[in-house]
Amino acid sequence: MENDELNISMMKLVFATHNEHKLKELRSKLSQLGPDRVHWEIFSLDDIGCTEEIPEPHETLQENAMAKARYVWERYSLPCFADDTGLEIDALDGRPGVYSARYAGEGCSFADNVLKVLKEMKGEHRRSARFRTVIALILEGEGHYFEGQVEGSILEEGRGDGGFGYDPVFMPEGYALSFAEMPLSEKNRISHRARAVEQLIEFLAMVDG
Ligand code: IMP
Repeated sequence: MENDELNISMMKLVFATHNEHKLKELRSKLSQLGPDRVHWEIFSLDDIGCTEEIPEPHETLQENAMAKARYVWERYSLPCFADDTGLEIDALDGRPGVYSARYAGEGCSFADNVLKVLKEMKGEHRRSARFRTVIALILEGEGHYFEGQVEGSILEEGRGDGGFGYDPVFMPEGYALSFAEMPLSEKNRISHRARAVEQLIEFLAMVDG
């Protein structure tokens, strides 16, 4: 049954992203909970007419995620959440971390970043790493954080052509496949972002009553 039929008023919530893939993932997870549990309607930046790329100038995932959520809250007065993700490699003292998107320099491609990581990890025996996602939510002017991570290791070379970013060189713990080799549905079930999103959704369902 649709929410309209149940006569439930939907509350607006902005996801501070231009990334259609992330939106689809979130909406799909929300719909799995069922209309009687979640009464939020999700809007992207494009949906609210915000075409800018919101800056991520800080040195932690938390600060960047909150800065993006606050940007929307201050300009549009709408409840909002934003995410920031980093790949943390133990042998590189946690790099690329918060610099994951631009590790090989401003304007670099995913392939440039992967090459840089592979070069730095050449001959390194300690391969452990994790993806970590932080979501910052501003609701009624108050901030909340949610976090998800997935442990794994860095491969010696890229494998697979699915996913994006560092997926070809990241193999999650307990799997013999890189993120880029596994079906997207499986990655979306176990990923750092999925885990953070699940916590956000649980929280929203709770404040929803
Ligand atoms: P963002 O904060 O989600 O934009 O992520 C920052 C950077 O981390 C991206 O530009 C990617 O390089 C990398 N990244 C984030 N999520 C993933 C993922 O699921 N797989 C591989 N790389 C990712």
